[in-house]
Amino acid sequence: MKQKTLFIAFSTQKGGVGKSTFTILAASFLHYLKGLNVVVVDCDYPQCNVHDMHKREIRQLETNLHYQSKAISLFESLGKQTYPIVCAKPETAISRAKEFLSKEPAGYDVVFF
Ligand SMILES: Nc1ncnc2c1ncn2[C@@H]1O[C@H](COP(=O)(O)OP(=O)(O)OP(=O)(O)O)[C@@H](O)[C@H]1O
Ligand SMILES: [Mg+2]
Repeated sequence: MKQKTLFIAFSTQKGGVGKSTFTILAASFLHYLKGLNVVVVDCDYPQCNVHDMHKREIRQLETNLHYQSKAISLFESLGKQTYPIVCAKPETAISRAKEFLSKEPAGYDVVFF
């Protein structure tokens, strides 16, 4: 039986201590190296820098043939694509994550906030 999706938040009011960096490292490690299915909910509303960075990377992939071929080989070798990153206000992040999970046919193992 599939286990329940785990919700994990790296959280502190202090700025610049590594919340965003550590979230992406942990999400990427579990998604790409450990084979888990991961979602990231960026709660740094309204900047949502991690979400914006992800959008920039996808745009870059659409326009740069070199990165495109690298991404295709990576995704083919992994048998999966990059993980989704959604932007949400902190107060609605959990309901946003639950809404996202309910619409996705693929099961997710971990949601990082
Ligand atoms: N692209 C980068 N290049 C070099 N250093 C960076 C880069 N991005 C972040 N840093 C540094 O890494 C450290 C952790 O940054 P990070 O953005 O992960 O912290 P944070 O806790 O998410 O901050 P915030 O509260 O502003 O969201 C900070 O000292 C930051 O200045
Ligand atoms: Mg941050």
